[in-house]
Amino acid sequence: MNEWYKEDLAYIHDVGHSDYALKSAPGILEILAQNNIRAGLVVDLGCGSGLSASALTNAQYQVLGVDISESLIAIARTRVPNAEFRVESLFKFDIPFCNAVISIGECLNYLFDSDNGCQTLGQLFKRIYNALAPSGMFIFDIAEPGQVIEGNRIKSFAEGEDWIVLVEKEEDQEKSILSRRIITLRKVEEYYRRDDEVHYLQLYKATDIIEELRQIGFHVRRMSSYGQYKLPNAHTAFVAWKSI
Ligand SMILES: C[S@@+](CC[C@H](N)C(=O)[O-])C[C@H]1O[C@@H](n2cnc3c(N)ncnc32)[C@H](O)[C@@H]1O
Repeated sequence: MNEWYKEDLAYIHDVGHSDYALKSAPGILEILAQNNIRAGLVVDLGCGSGLSASALTNAQYQVLGVDISESLIAIARTRVPNAEFRVESLFKFDIPFCNAVISIGECLNYLFDSDNGCQTLGQLFKRIYNALAPSGMFIFDIAEPGQVIEGNRIKSFAEGEDWIVLVEKEEDQEKSILSRRIITLRKVEEYYRRDDEVHYLQLYKATDIIEELRQIGFHVRRMSSYGQYKLPNAHTAFVAWKSI
């Protein structure tokens, strides 16, 4: 559980890449309210540093967050002391009876857990369906193929007051796998400390996800934004609900 989003990347993700979670939160709260889910338990799969959990608890939901990164969960526990957090793989986590499940920021694409893949994803969807209350909702997003143009390797960087992150992205078009080589530099006293991580993501087509969800019994709507927040290129969000 200590291999991904280690201390420095967890810190940088929290302070430097919070936009996705913060800007999607109002749209997610609106979807829940419009569907008369105004209280009760929301399970946040891949909860990261607890940014969505914070918005949900402020809106009076009870939150149970799960993430594979110990460092991110440590930040989440400090940020949202009145939510519950577990360090666990979302693909193995025993999802309790709940009113909604969310998974924000392409969490389902990551191949951190060696078990992940199309089959495991289908099993996860079934477990979510079974855990949801009647009329319960599953709100999530995924990264699709087309993150990087064929043959290209994209190098980019971002920086903050006490950190720098360098990322190299490449996409295996045949296997639909995106790799991100990440170098972090974080200022500790007067020096910058370096750390490295490589993340692999299985990219899924939105049409395949919709088919899988429908076969299980979900009603599904796809979206290119959460409320006013437009998702990045080649990302799709889904609202799936159980109508019984
Ligand atoms: C891009 S981050 C998004 C985090 C958070 N939802 C947010 O919006 O800030 C993806 C998250 O998925 C988590 N993740 C990836 N694979 C996971 C797995 N198998 N089990 C639990 N968490 C996982 C990562 O640790 C990371 O926190």
